[in-house]
Amino acid sequence: MEKNIPTKLVEIEVTDLAFDGKAVGHIDGKVIFLKGGLPGETVLAEITRTKARYFNGITREIIKKSDKRVKAVCSHFDECGGCTWLDLQYEDQLAYKQKQVKDCIERIGALEGVKFLDIIGSKEIYNYRNKMEYSFNVTDDSFTLGLHSRGSYQDIFNLNECHISQKTDGELVQWMRNYIKENAITVYDVHNHGGFMRFFMLRQTKQTNQLMVNVVTNYGDFPNVEKFVKEITEAFPFITTIIHSQNGQKSNIAIGEVEATLYGPGYIEEMLSGKLFKITANSFFQTNSLQAEVLYQTGFDMLKPEADDKVLDLYCGTGTIGILLADKVKEVVGVELVPDAVMAAKLNAKKNGVTNIQFFEGFVKEFLKSDFMKENKYNIAIIDPPRSGLNPKALKQLILLQPEKILYISCNPATFSRDAQKLVDAGYELPEIQPVDMFPHTMHIELASMFYKKATLA
Ligand SMILES: C[S@@+](CC[C@H](N)C(=O)[O-])C[C@H]1O[C@@H](n2cnc3c(N)ncnc32)[C@H](O)[C@@H]1O
Repeated sequence: MEKNIPTKLVEIEVTDLAFDGKAVGHIDGKVIFLKGGLPGETVLAEITRTKARYFNGITREIIKKSDKRVKAVCSHFDECGGCTWLDLQYEDQLAYKQKQVKDCIERIGALEGVKFLDIIGSKEIYNYRNKMEYSFNVTDDSFTLGLHSRGSYQDIFNLNECHISQKTDGELVQWMRNYIKENAITVYDVHNHGGFMRFFMLRQTKQTNQLMVNVVTNYGDFPNVEKFVKEITEAFPFITTIIHSQNGQKSNIAIGEVEATLYGPGYIEEMLSGKLFKITANSFFQTNSLQAEVLYQTGFDMLKPEADDKVLDLYCGTGTIGILLADKVKEVVGVELVPDAVMAAKLNAKKNGVTNIQFFEGFVKEFLKSDFMKENKYNIAIIDPPRSGLNPKALKQLILLQPEKILYISCNPATFSRDAQKLVDAGYELPEIQPVDMFPHTMHIELASMFYKKATLA
């Protein structure tokens, strides 16, 4: 039953979950995809987009709750756009994620006969994130510093606690908000592109206890910078480095065009499976350190590397996968777009005494048709692309190379399913998929899978 409510909220019965974790219901004979809600629940929702064949919306209130719901540990849960499932027991979160992977493979990939191994839960379900990007936003009379409000691209609420990030994040954010207020430093306004403070980023390692503060601002020097560094490091002596990144671009992304180290070495180092990895302000690093070890080991167990294997580590970031694999194979070549990450990867190899690996900077699609690739042959490809999956040209080049085995690690089952179908059409077999949960309480899903060139299967 659906009925219109005068406040423009509509009552919806949630019947299913979609690929991206959105709740599915029906209204006026059309499907509606909602942010928030579980099958069996009745919710009051706001419609945010009307399309010819479907609606998008956001759940504002749950009027009939699923018995799987538990009390959320965070006081911001109802307003925060970060966690979706903080009030759903963890085993049910895992069950939904497992179903999402299966649905994607069967519906988008149209693949049959794939075995879905039971999802591996996260070692930690709270305080697991090692990286957070808090935003500043001007309001009518002041400003806010925190995370995006649920369903909003612009509104930021004042955050005081966060249970998936590190325990000290809440205090650091509150301190920073007070410091900016007391020192009358301006905040960037997206409407007129004036004002200074844009983002407050925190990256904190799990196994080495290092903390990077990265303050992203509009162009210009940080006002009274010595005072800021002195006061924040006195308040939080466990800060190991502070970066000031300037970004004057209109696009609201937390990446600096100009970067200066205000305190410490300018980077942090995390330990994964006994090896140390340098993390710079802008380079990719798995956000759940402890579970990254589990993900990589799961991938290696599926790959079963051999001493004479020659491996391509495509989309290699700071080189973690290749470096952890290098002593089990003959040689590894890593490819990565972000120059900062490539520099860190080279340093990481050196620091860890890994000599049979080299790194190249550039687009995977370009690298795969380079002279280097014409002169060298690799029997294994590891691919760990961003959420968009493989670029069609990169996929075509990869198929032309005909590696015997492809280990595909994906953070998006939908784009993975699309690419998997193309690999299967091109003569690869996909016997099984192993989902691994890296992001408890959110709808994000990670998986590892092996593709075998048919002739090499026993
Ligand atoms: C999901 S991350 C994986 C990183 C690494 N394998 C790890 O586990 O830490 C994807 C990486 O691909 C890089 N990247 C994105 N598009 C790329 C492209 N077209 N060519 C090369 N690298 C790319 C990103 O900068 C990022 O470091």
